[in-house]
Amino acid sequence: MSAQWLPAWSREEGAERVRRQFSATFHDDGELGPVPGTADGVWSAPGRVNIIGEHTDYNAGLCLPTALPHRTYIALEKRADDVVRLASAQADEPWTARLSDVRPGEAEGWGAYVAGVAWALREAGYPVTGFDAVVDSCVPFGASLSSSAALGCAFAIALSDVFDLGLGDDDAGRTVLVAAARRAENEIAGAPTGGLDQSAALLCAPGQALLLDFRPGLDAQEFAQHVPFDLAAAGLTLLVIDSRAPHQLVDGQYAERRAACEAAAAHLGVDSLRRITTDGLDDALARLAPHDADGTLRRRTRHVVTETARTAELAQLVRGGLGADGVPDEAAVAQAGALMNASHASLRDDYEVTVRETDLAVDASLAGGAVGARMTGGGFGGSTIALVRLGDVERVAEHVAAAFAEAGLTAPAFLTAPPSAAAGRDA
Ligand code: GLA
Repeated sequence: MSAQWLPAWSREEGAERVRRQFSATFHDDGELGPVPGTADGVWSAPGRVNIIGEHTDYNAGLCLPTALPHRTYIALEKRADDVVRLASAQADEPWTARLSDVRPGEAEGWGAYVAGVAWALREAGYPVTGFDAVVDSCVPFGASLSSSAALGCAFAIALSDVFDLGLGDDDAGRTVLVAAARRAENEIAGAPTGGLDQSAALLCAPGQALLLDFRPGLDAQEFAQHVPFDLAAAGLTLLVIDSRAPHQLVDGQYAERRAACEAAAAHLGVDSLRRITTDGLDDALARLAPHDADGTLRRRTRHVVTETARTAELAQLVRGGLGADGVPDEAAVAQAGALMNASHASLRDDYEVTVRETDLAVDASLAGGAVGARMTGGGFGGSTIALVRLGDVERVAEHVAAAFAEAGLTAPAFLTAPPSAAAGRDA
C-alpha cells in the first residue's frame, strides 16, 4: 500500500500556468487583429489548515491557522466597463456577469465568490470596475482546506493592486480585504462562514501560525497576532490527510450549528459564547438546562467554550517554541498533542461535525504514531491534521492509507503543510 501525496506547485509553476491560460483564453484586439492577450499581472492566495480553534470564529473566539503551500493562482486584466469574464482550469464553463447585476441572492456558480469580492469592495466605497481573469489551483477542492477563500482572496489582493486601492500593503489594509472576501462568501455565495478562512489566506506568514481573536472591536494588531511556528526545530511536522469524504458548507448543518450557538448565547443573556469562561461553564450549562430538553445547546456550548480555552493553551505552547525558553521538550510536545486530541473528541461528541472517515483518519494517525491528531475546518467530511515526528511521516501515512483500504473507503490523500505565505502578487 503506498500513500498518495498531493504536492504543491512552485509559485513559478502556478504563475506560468495562468499566464499561458490567459493568453489562450482572452485576446487583445489590436489593429493587426486578435493577438494573444497579456494579463496585468498574476496573483495567488493559499488554502489553510487550522491547527486548533474550530467553530469558534463565529462565537467571537480564538483560532490558530497556518497557510498551506497549496495556492490558487489568477491572471487578471482590468476592463473599463463593468463586465466580469472568468475561466477556470477547474470549471467546465466560463462565467460572465455585469457587476451592476451582482447582488445578494442574484449570483450563482463559482464566479459568485469572485464577483462577490468586487461587489463588496464597491459596497465599501472602493472604485472597482470589471475584469477578465483565469484561475488555476492546486488547493484540494472540497477538502475543508479553504479552496473557496483562496479563490476569493486571490481576487481581493489582485483588485486592490490593479485598482490602486493600497489595501495589500499592511495587516490593517488586508483586514479590509478579509471583510470584503467574507461578505462575498456570506452574502453573494450564500455560505454563512465566520472569517477564519479569509483571515488565514490574507494574513498568514511563512514560518508562523496566526492567532486570531474574533472579539468585536479589536484593531488589526489585536485581531491577528503572528506566532513563530518552527515545528522542525522540535523535530515535528504537520501531516494533512484529505479523507475524501465529501464536504459541503452551503447546506443546513453549518448554519444549524451557528443558530444553536446564537440561541445558547441568547438564553444566557450574552452577546456571544466567548463571554463564558471555563470557570463559568458549569453554571452556564445549568442555566441552559431548562431550555434544552435534549442537551444539544449544552453540548454545543461546552465545545465552543472549551475549544477557545484549548486554543489559548496551544498558542501559548507554540509561543514558547513547544518547550521552555524556546528549547522544545517532550512534555510540551505531548501537551500540544493532547490538546489536539481533545479538540477532535469535542468536535466528535459535543459539536457532532465529524464523520466516519475523519474519525478513522484521526484514530489511525494516532495508532500509526502521531503525537496528536484532529479534524480541521468546518467538518462534515474534509481533512484531518496530525502532529508527527519528522521520521514518522511515511509510517503514519501508510498506516492511515491501510486503515482506509481495510474499511473499504476511498483512498485518502496526503499533504505536508509548512506554514506558508499569505495572498500576494506573483508576477
Ligand atoms: C469553515 C468556515 C470557517 C470556520 C470553520 C470552522 O472553514 O468557513 O469560518 O467556521 O469552518 O472552524
